[in-house]
Amino acid sequence: MAWRCSASGNADLVRNLRKAGVIHTDHVEQAMLKVDRSNYAPQNPYTDAPQPLGHQATISAPHMHAHALELLANHLQPGMRALDVGCGSGYLAAVMARMVGIDGQVVAIDYLSPLVALSLENVRKEDADLLDSGTLQVEQGDGWKGFEQASPYDSIHVGAAAESVPEALLEQLKPGGRMVIPVGTTTQQFCTIDRLPNGNFEQKSLMGVMYVPLVHPPSCI
Ligand SMILES: C[S@@+](CC[C@H](N)C(=O)[O-])C[C@H]1O[C@@H](n2cnc3c(N)ncnc32)[C@H](O)[C@@H]1O
Repeated sequence: MAWRCSASGNADLVRNLRKAGVIHTDHVEQAMLKVDRSNYAPQNPYTDAPQPLGHQATISAPHMHAHALELLANHLQPGMRALDVGCGSGYLAAVMARMVGIDGQVVAIDYLSPLVALSLENVRKEDADLLDSGTLQVEQGDGWKGFEQASPYDSIHVGAAAESVPEALLEQLKPGGRMVIPVGTTTQQFCTIDRLPNGNFEQKSLMGVMYVPLVHPPSCI
């Protein structure tokens, strides 16, 4: 069932998410206004529910994107560096790139090459400046390994559920940085993991969720 923020256009969708209190910062609102979901969701782009992308992947529901972005907002400030694991449609990575701006950097990875190609195709429609400026980089990669070359990251978003928190992602998080990740198998928890300035980690479970699994791809990726 579609959640209550569904709309007939991008601006209305963002307005509804703000009215409902899912978006509560101007930083997230402005970035979501700049990236039109119709370039990323093949059908029902403004319906507040996940939509199929093919390859057993979905573009997550707008309220889940907004929720994740709000949790990461302090770690997606201009000039910061972020990793989006399981980029699928490329939508969230594009919004994250709008948030960190021209002086920041977002790396988006997916283990499936057709979804890497789809992300690039989608971003090129109206957000090509993000690729041209190098603010957004899209690569084939395994989320269990992260993307060490551009680490450490101020923020890491994981868009698929991991049975345990990937060690490599913890290592690639900056002290002071934050990861959001669904953790679990049949039951899953949406978690924040903060790396404290002393290097320790603090994990909080926020709510039950249902994501596709963070798979273990062949080791060649
Ligand atoms: C629910 S989709 C999320 C897509 C994206 N966040 C969006 O909203 O468009 C989960 C994505 O995780 C990817 N994925 C699953 N396991 C992965 C892994 N080990 N490494 C990288 N990506 C993975 C899938 O291919 C899929 O695109």
